[in-house]
Amino acid sequence: MSKVNALLQGTLDWVDARFPLTANWKAHLSEYYAPKNFNFWYFFGSLAILVLVIQIVTGIFLTMHFKPDASLNASGVPVAFASVEYIMRDVSWGWLIRYMHSTGASAFFIVVYLHMFRGLIYGSYRKPRELIWLFGIGIFLCLMGEAFFGYLLPWGQMSFWGAQVIVNLFSAIPVIGPDLSIWLRGDYVVGDATLNRFFAFHVIAMPLVLVGLVAAHIIALHEVGSNNPDGVEIKKKKDANGVPLDGIPFHPYYTVKDIVGVIVFLMVFSVIVFFMPEGGGYFLEYNNFDPADPLKTPPHIAPVWYFTPYYSLLRAVTYPLLGIDAKFWGVVAMGAGVVVFAFLPWLDRSPVKSIRYRGSLTKTLLAIWIVGFFILGFLGTKDPAYKFFGSIPGAPVAQVLSVYYFLFFLTMPIWSSLDRCQPEPDRVTMK
Ligand code: HEM
Repeated sequence: MSKVNALLQGTLDWVDARFPLTANWKAHLSEYYAPKNFNFWYFFGSLAILVLVIQIVTGIFLTMHFKPDASLNASGVPVAFASVEYIMRDVSWGWLIRYMHSTGASAFFIVVYLHMFRGLIYGSYRKPRELIWLFGIGIFLCLMGEAFFGYLLPWGQMSFWGAQVIVNLFSAIPVIGPDLSIWLRGDYVVGDATLNRFFAFHVIAMPLVLVGLVAAHIIALHEVGSNNPDGVEIKKKKDANGVPLDGIPFHPYYTVKDIVGVIVFLMVFSVIVFFMPEGGGYFLEYNNFDPADPLKTPPHIAPVWYFTPYYSLLRAVTYPLLGIDAKFWGVVAMGAGVVVFAFLPWLDRSPVKSIRYRGSLTKTLLAIWIVGFFILGFLGTKDPAYKFFGSIPGAPVAQVLSVYYFLFFLTMPIWSSLDRCQPEPDRVTMK
């Protein structure tokens, strides 16, 4: 052994005697066995970690220059809005940091939606991965909160009116609603107090919870091991050394695979950041380039694209029930639209996990649900009076799709057990 190697080994031994570095490296990387048939859909977990890191690092640099202050400066522009302009024009590379952060927000949702879709098609939420899934739902809720709080900060017209609309929704809750919405805003209207508390939630409270939940998500994953496109439990078939026959060490095989994903992702991400950071008005809404004006309501207020399917569920409810305003039931539908995912592990009664071995009933119902989700998302970006091809009114379409959205889940115990599935194979396949 050369002197350098001996020194490195000595240092490692010293650390290992005090901290389980090698043991953790083995347990979570070099001797952590993952199914050998991971495919495209398995890129998005590591990409979600990457985007989380991008958001935290760019967020730290933005915080160095951003001022959460709704008062007007000498030119009559809100200080918060002006500080974002300052970042864009005067801070060295500020435009890059800000565009990475704003594009990162949309990228986060794209990656997480694809990651959840993978869970949906391969039944990754089923036993024994229920907790991985529930931590995931917690992450998703936090991510929505994080995006909502962050969106108010640039103090543009959409920031202001978007927050106004969403906080006002809470006032629809019977009895406590009106006081609750004042408590949330810290004022009778969205104002400086709201901006300050949203800033606190955005830069520290939510990220802390998010990072904690991601850690719990991965600890739970490493306890039970990954699912795979066949839905076969690889731990059931092991060799004499206790190594799963269908498993390969995470490092180097999947570390290298994930690096390929990271490179492709960064290429696409860079194209958007450098050439189309507004994303056609979907990533950065044009209305938000105007400073917040409490006296001028924009003609059409719509949330950012990742919230629009749930916004459609909210708007779909137009009838009062039990003497309570339709707005309240709309809020209930919107919340239920997100929370319903948490029940999937107990709603799905299919004998197999993966879509590969499910029958045409599941495939058809799921395909309709996905198309419906996209249409709801699209309609959520439009005015309620929107008409498809200028003649088919969007509002009743959104109502029908909203009913289907919930029926899909509520009737899942029935149709998932009725479906004609093929038997799962004993070992993973390499399709
Ligand atoms: C910040 C967001 C998230 C991060 C960083 C993250 C990270 C990861 C990672 C690294 C994996 C293992 C690699 C992989 O299977 O792709 C994983 C697996 C998993 N995640 Fe997430 N995740 C996030 C959000 C979510 C959400 C929102 C859900 C669902 C509601 C979810 C559900 C799952 C499930 C079920 C698995 C196991 C998949 C399988 O074994 O087939 N995750 N996650």
